[in-house]
Amino acid sequence: MAVWYEGLIPAGASRPGGLAAEWARAEVVVVLASPDFMARGLDDAPGLCGAIAAGKLVVPVRVRPSDLSDTRLAGLQALPRTGPELRRRSEDNRESAWMEIATEVKSLAARMRAEAIFVGREAEREEILRAVDRGQATQLLGLPKMGKTALLRWAERTLRTLGKPVVFLNARGLEGCSAIHVVRAVAETIGKSREVNAALRGRSALPGIREAAEVLPLLAASCWLVDDADALATYGHGFDKVFFDVLRSLGQVQDLNQRVVWISASETDMYGRFHATGLTSQFLNSASKVHVGRLTKGDVLDWLGRFGVKEESALAAWDLTGGCPQALEWVIEHRGNGGKDDDAIAEMLGTWMRPLFEGWWRTLGADDKRCLKALGGGTLVKDDAAIQSLLDRGLLLEQKNTLTVAGAVWGRFVQGV
Ligand SMILES: Nc1ncnc2c1ncn2[C@@H]1O[C@H](COP(=O)(O)OP(=O)(O)OP(=O)(O)O)[C@@H](O)[C@H]1O
Ligand SMILES: [Mg+2]
Repeated sequence: MAVWYEGLIPAGASRPGGLAAEWARAEVVVVLASPDFMARGLDDAPGLCGAIAAGKLVVPVRVRPSDLSDTRLAGLQALPRTGPELRRRSEDNRESAWMEIATEVKSLAARMRAEAIFVGREAEREEILRAVDRGQATQLLGLPKMGKTALLRWAERTLRTLGKPVVFLNARGLEGCSAIHVVRAVAETIGKSREVNAALRGRSALPGIREAAEVLPLLAASCWLVDDADALATYGHGFDKVFFDVLRSLGQVQDLNQRVVWISASETDMYGRFHATGLTSQFLNSASKVHVGRLTKGDVLDWLGRFGVKEESALAAWDLTGGCPQALEWVIEHRGNGGKDDDAIAEMLGTWMRPLFEGWWRTLGADDKRCLKALGGGTLVKDDAAIQSLLDRGLLLEQKNTLTVAGAVWGRFVQGV
């Protein structure tokens, strides 16, 4: 845990820039809730809206009685979990409550560090960095739990280290948020709050979608990482055609220093989604696509090796999971429970993965299903289009010119379904 406060911004350095950089670095945000703080209004709390929009872990601490309903903090688990607010406790009781809070926040931070382990995806990583250098809009596409968010978070960390102004937005977290919220959140993260708020206020007493679109150019030279972007196309919270048209043109300006670079993660192609919902016409029609499928054999050996798993067992895990990250996490968690035979482990993992597999199966077309069934049964298949798309999604595996269903556990499911 690092202690930082505004007073540490060096004399002469940019205050908005210094604040924005610290907010961006924060992993856990602990909000000390008091009536004074709430009275300032959360929209005015510098950085907080951006942190919430980025899907950071925000933990309200009930210091003094404050009404959190009707704020964006409503519904978040606060600390202390039970009992009165800290200020209404006896001194002894208050101190032990602070201890509990400190312990809980510390263990949260430890868990997040463990989750930040990121392995492999060499090719995908290079594609993302190349796209950012060219200022090219990019979509990361993959089935549920294949590792889209993990890859996007890697991009966030890496681009930040490279000194690029990046903004991480979770589109699901934006539910109920308008385009104005998004513009404000981005501005906060890249340290342009004052400029953007002044521009919005200058345009209207009640800025709306049109004003949001108009001030978008002020956010240029930023890179937007939008997770679960499917959500943007599914509900009507004001992200209309005009907004996306402006965003699209900002993604195409000649001067790279004036560009907004878009990288989103979604299950399906956003251009197709927008088209289907009639929301927008051309946004992302020329975006490059990075498929987030299974991990490679080398990635799997590397990952398990970090947990001290012997090579022989790591190879068995590769055969079992076919490189599906979610299944590999299960293997890592259960690696200590030795004594079970391979069949029993495959059975347990299969049961655990079943709901996810069922979800994947539902997204497949008839050709995909036929192709998987046939290959699983050892029959040759000629359907090149289906094969390519199954390879992209990590559902098939090509090794030494032979196609197989990726992983024994998924293979069993395909045969049984
Ligand atoms: N390259 C990787 N290295 C380490 N862990 C990974 C990697 N890819 C994915 N994981 C882990 O696998 C799990 C699933 O990944 P993640 O949540 O990124 O998938 P997703 O595609 O974003 O899923 P969802 O459909 O829920 O959005 C996570 O716990 C994540 O930490
Ligand atoms: Mg995700």
